[in-house]
Amino acid sequence: MKVTIKSGGVGEVRADLLAIPMTQSSKNGRPSLPRGVAALDTTLGGVIKAALQSDDFKGAESDRLVVYPTTSQPAVRRVLLVGLGDTASLNAEKQRHLAAAASSVARDRGHERVAVLARPTRTLDASATAAALAEGAVLGAYRYDRYQSKARKAGKKSPRPRSVSLVFDDLAGPTAVRQAAAGAVIGAESQACARDLSNAPPNEMTPLALAAAARAAAREANLRCRVLRGVELERLGARALLAVGGGSAHPPCLIVLQHPGRGRAAKQKPLALVGKGITFDSGGLSLKPSNSMTEMKHDMSGAAAVIGAMRAIGKMDLAEPVVGVIAAAENMPSGTAYRPGDIVTAASGKTIEVLNTDAEGRVVLADALHYTREKFAPRAMVDLATLTGATMVALGPWGTAAMGNNDALIEELRAAGDQASERVWPMPLLPEHYRAIKSPVADIKNTGGPSAGASTAGAFLGEFVGDTPWAHLDIAGTGWNSHRTPYHRGGATGVGVRMLLAWIQAGVQRFA
Ligand code: BES
Ligand code: MN
Ligand code: ZN
Repeated sequence: MKVTIKSGGVGEVRADLLAIPMTQSSKNGRPSLPRGVAALDTTLGGVIKAALQSDDFKGAESDRLVVYPTTSQPAVRRVLLVGLGDTASLNAEKQRHLAAAASSVARDRGHERVAVLARPTRTLDASATAAALAEGAVLGAYRYDRYQSKARKAGKKSPRPRSVSLVFDDLAGPTAVRQAAAGAVIGAESQACARDLSNAPPNEMTPLALAAAARAAAREANLRCRVLRGVELERLGARALLAVGGGSAHPPCLIVLQHPGRGRAAKQKPLALVGKGITFDSGGLSLKPSNSMTEMKHDMSGAAAVIGAMRAIGKMDLAEPVVGVIAAAENMPSGTAYRPGDIVTAASGKTIEVLNTDAEGRVVLADALHYTREKFAPRAMVDLATLTGATMVALGPWGTAAMGNNDALIEELRAAGDQASERVWPMPLLPEHYRAIKSPVADIKNTGGPSAGASTAGAFLGEFVGDTPWAHLDIAGTGWNSHRTPYHRGGATGVGVRMLLAWIQAGVQRFA
């Protein structure tokens, strides 16, 4: 989607749909008109004023109203009033909601020229406002409809919001604002790319199809891509990954994406992003009940986030060198499946007693984390995984659980999550959690009993990171959800992409 920056106020706008942010004054709670809107309204026949006088629209959060000009050939064919609640709380997330409301309505009704009135605040300057609006505009127009015959037939011919212009009053430095918006569009489109991968049906999105998608992203974003499979995995001793993938007709693979970085920064050790890529999780021989299986195509959402983030990192050509590593496999029951009771030797040499084949994510990540550490000696390693139902119970769809061996790193990710409005919440990794996964017959076992399921899973991963600064992000609750938000309609959320970008772009790593 094209996002353009317009300076010169709302009086100049020509659009099929103009979205106007409406906040409530902290003094009397009444909606207040942004600058220039009263004058525009006069040319539209006073329809905005009439709507406000009717009391039908109060400007409260999630209040929406479309009004139609009564004058002939108006510059703006419809006005979408978007309530954002009290003036004092106009933050980046509300700016995203504003633009998402505009692009979502436009997408549903086929309006092509969309404009959004931008309203920077004392705490959110023009660049930050433009970035948040650009993200909202891209995400609000996202639909997963490629398997719907109607949408497919209409195809490219159906009217779509192809460009969204963000309308500012007079801008002092339009170039910086344009740059901020362009970066944000790349980030949000990469998040949409992650959503697409995760929403794809599991009969299409096999481990090798995921690898092909990573290759395609690499081509687009100028990244290196390698895919290790079969004998190459045997040679690495990646028996944990091979064990999990062994039950499926679709073989497992390890996907490696590399962004070399730029300038002096490129000489440093890379940052590493590691993703769980279970393309379908039936539970294996420890088969899931049917109801728990319906959403398990999303079990590669960690991998999707890594591919999305790497795509953006490459496209923005960030200075920081970054590698992305994905353990891709399908967890299926069959005559060649791994079993409860099996003991497998991971690439690191540690032995794993398999007690439950449904705890497969940690098993494949064991090899991915070890490989990443050995191969790249990263400055820091962050894994993303839809790892445990326990995290979903603890934080619901509202928070990503973070744990690891480095508090400074976790704090950076938490702060990046705040900036991106993708909440990251620290959880403990205690010596007791490590003790809970000791096995009587092998080095460790792949389940830690009924207590502290999120943390015992984290401790299992911790067995494979050595002293590399490491954080584990459990996105089981945040990776997908069924409820709608202003820029999400259910299904994959693409969580992690914006947060990781915010983290890497912050550029001040204090964990080392
Ligand atoms: N992919 C699931 C975790 C999951 C569950 C993600 C629900 C999102 C929603 C994972 O592989 C799994 O099955 N975990 C088990 C582990 C248990 C057997 C120790 C779980 O959490 O129940
Ligand atoms: Mn599982
Ligand atoms: Zn799983």
